[in-house]
Amino acid sequence: MSGGERPVVVGITGASGAIVASRTIDALLAEGAAVVATASSAARMVWKLEMDESFGAAIERWMDSGAFSYFGPGEIAAPVASGTYPTLGMVIAPCSMATAAAVAHGLSDNLIRRAADVTLKERRRLVVVPRESPLSVIHLENLTRLAALGATVIPPEPAFYLGEQSIEDVADFAAQRALLALGVIEQLPSRFQYRGPRAR
Ligand SMILES: Cc1cc2nc3c(=O)[nH]c(=O)nc-3n(C[C@H](O)[C@H](O)[C@H](O)COP(=O)(O)O)c2cc1C
Repeated sequence: MSGGERPVVVGITGASGAIVASRTIDALLAEGAAVVATASSAARMVWKLEMDESFGAAIERWMDSGAFSYFGPGEIAAPVASGTYPTLGMVIAPCSMATAAAVAHGLSDNLIRRAADVTLKERRRLVVVPRESPLSVIHLENLTRLAALGATVIPPEPAFYLGEQSIEDVADFAAQRALLALGVIEQLPSRFQYRGPRAR
């Protein structure tokens, strides 16, 4: 890894919306970013329920890029568990309320949570894509705390005004917003930019 190739850490948790994780990693690799991913056991369970492509097949596909590596959630000795390992930042997508709570309160009991803790303490960019509805006061307080700590909170919701046609469109919108917040891209792709009222 050269100095200019600091990877983005991607944490995948057991919230619904595995496609957001998939599209985020696809988009990062498409932009030439290196990716270090880790997924919780709940994330893999949700992935199996929601995705056509198996998690193992997705990992193999991303490995083919040569810019992707994966660590299990228990691999607490992985490089991204230390602040001395240089990364560009981290995105947790989708982010469960359990992980949002843990990160908001510094509970670093798996690699996703530890890497997020490191991202915050090193004052690197942290992006969370929370998925839950409705949101309780506990959820809202934890997300508020993350935002106050400097994280960018991006709910994976449609813009509506962009006329999204599919779940893939919605996931891509969240993914591109995450890349923008991480500084991987400088502006959203034109299809995600508001251009005024559309002719109907
Ligand atoms: C099918 C399924 C969907 C779930 N969806 C959500 C969700 O949208 N948001 C959420 O916070 N938790 C959701 N959960 C619960 C989490 O998976 C659970 O709280 C888990 O402990 C999260 O652990 P993790 O953050 O380490 O992945 C879901 C669980 C399952 C099985």
